[in-house]
Amino acid sequence: MHVLSQTGEAVAAPEERVTTGETTKLGRAIVVTSGKGGVGKTTTTANLGTALAQRGARVALIDADVGLRNLDIVLGLENRVQHHLLDVLEETATIDDALVPDKHSEGLFLLAAAQAREKDEVDTEKMRALVASLRERFDYVIIDSPAGIEKGFKNAVAGAQEAIVVCTPEVSSVRDVDRVVGLLGNRFRPQLVINRVRPQLVKKGTMLSVEDVDAFLRLPLLGVIADEPQIIVTTNRGEPLALQRDGKTAAAYHAIAARVAGEDVPPPQVELPKPTLFQRLFRGGRA
Ligand SMILES: Nc1ncnc2c1ncn2[C@@H]1O[C@H](COP(=O)(O)OP(=O)(O)OP(=O)(O)O)[C@@H](O)[C@H]1O
Ligand SMILES: [Mg+2]
Repeated sequence: MHVLSQTGEAVAAPEERVTTGETTKLGRAIVVTSGKGGVGKTTTTANLGTALAQRGARVALIDADVGLRNLDIVLGLENRVQHHLLDVLEETATIDDALVPDKHSEGLFLLAAAQAREKDEVDTEKMRALVASLRERFDYVIIDSPAGIEKGFKNAVAGAQEAIVVCTPEVSSVRDVDRVVGLLGNRFRPQLVINRVRPQLVKKGTMLSVEDVDAFLRLPLLGVIADEPQIIVTTNRGEPLALQRDGKTAAAYHAIAARVAGEDVPPPQVELPKPTLFQRLFRGGRA
């Protein structure tokens, strides 16, 4: 099937499409964005996609960070990418040629970004049509946005109906998310992932706490992910942490996936470290 061959035009995708008496439920297109760079959008996209696929969903991940191309590496698929997003948008490859099946999770596919191209080369309306077309085939289409709020961000958002915004517990990151949420407006029902939380620093009062971030942003909290050295190890291996069945951070990603899927999962907790003997002695046991 060639996704853009019918009209090539952008149409607001209906939530359901009726074909010869049958109703096809359209998948959900979710953009993962942040404003600020380097806060964990790609890591979140890879782990959420993996966790959703492990639950049995069919998931297409789109790397919309044209020019940088990272998601393939995080998923360990860099050697399997033959065609990319711009090939599909420009109709030099079909979507089936370009979608790379994940090697770890059945039902998970990647549409990689072009490395040697510019973000400005993406046609926003074609991007919208592509996402609409993928929604007919997948339960979730998750779009990894580039940093910033320029054209790359606008293209990433174009076909989405929902947004996950990622921030780290830093004032600059929180402020950028606030700006992005203002740009998105209510239509995308943005939900927040707070990434790279370091409970020791929160406890010491040198890092913003989940409550501090929440007090400022007032967004539905989808998840809290600790600063986790294993993430760097698993990223280098091309095996998202969510593939692991044990460990707190893997569990946090699975809880995010369950919330995205509509399950009523208890709100994310950040376990603060127990006070050390030193703290108990010198703060009268209040630490
Ligand atoms: N929870 C975490 N704990 C430790 N390291 C993390 C965590 N999340 C992300 N990282 C690391 O932080 C770096 C940036 O993460 P990532 O590439 O996901 O950010 P990004 O928002 O997609 O960046 P960009 O804006 O450049 O696209 C990576 O090296 C990644 O491995
Ligand atoms: Mg990224």
